[in-house]
Amino acid sequence: MPTRGSARLPMKRSVSLGVAALLTMAAGDPGSGRAIVANRQVSACLLCHSGPIPDPHLQGNLAPALTGVGSRLTAAELRQRLTDPGKDSIMPSYAATAGLNRVGQPWVGKPVLTPTQIDDVVAFLSTLRAP
Ligand code: HEC
Repeated sequence: MPTRGSARLPMKRSVSLGVAALLTMAAGDPGSGRAIVANRQVSACLLCHSGPIPDPHLQGNLAPALTGVGSRLTAAELRQRLTDPGKDSIMPSYAATAGLNRVGQPWVGKPVLTPTQIDDVVAFLSTLRAP
């Protein structure tokens, strides 16, 4: 009988997706996703992460580099990172509208990124393959 994790019976990965993550699962636009990631005002990704993007310079080093992340994580895992990073992470949820602290009045009830923008970011991150 094959053991868990053997080549014949690969270990099942359980990814629990939040409700927001399931709202759309459309194929995103990687070009738009790249623009979102590159724009600190829109996404803040590069405050914490670096990535294979020439601009802006002085990218973050609080978090793992995004280079090659599309080889390390599946699209579902990337989506989960963006929508439900977990309470122990300093990474914000880009989909959450509830359970947040000290949200400015103009942003109450609004996620940082729309479901379509999240699709686009997932599509872009999926293109970041290890050499
Ligand atoms: C405030 C800092 C911060 C911001 C902003 C942030 N992240 Fe993160 N991110 C982290 C940290 C720290 C981790 C490492 C693991 C953890 O804490 O959960 C992480 C992990 C990740 C991972 C998993 C990386 C791996 O190699 O496993 C991905 C993918 C990711 N972030 C993408 C993004 C994207 C895309 C954005 C912008 C839309 C973003 N992050 C914004 C801090 C941040």
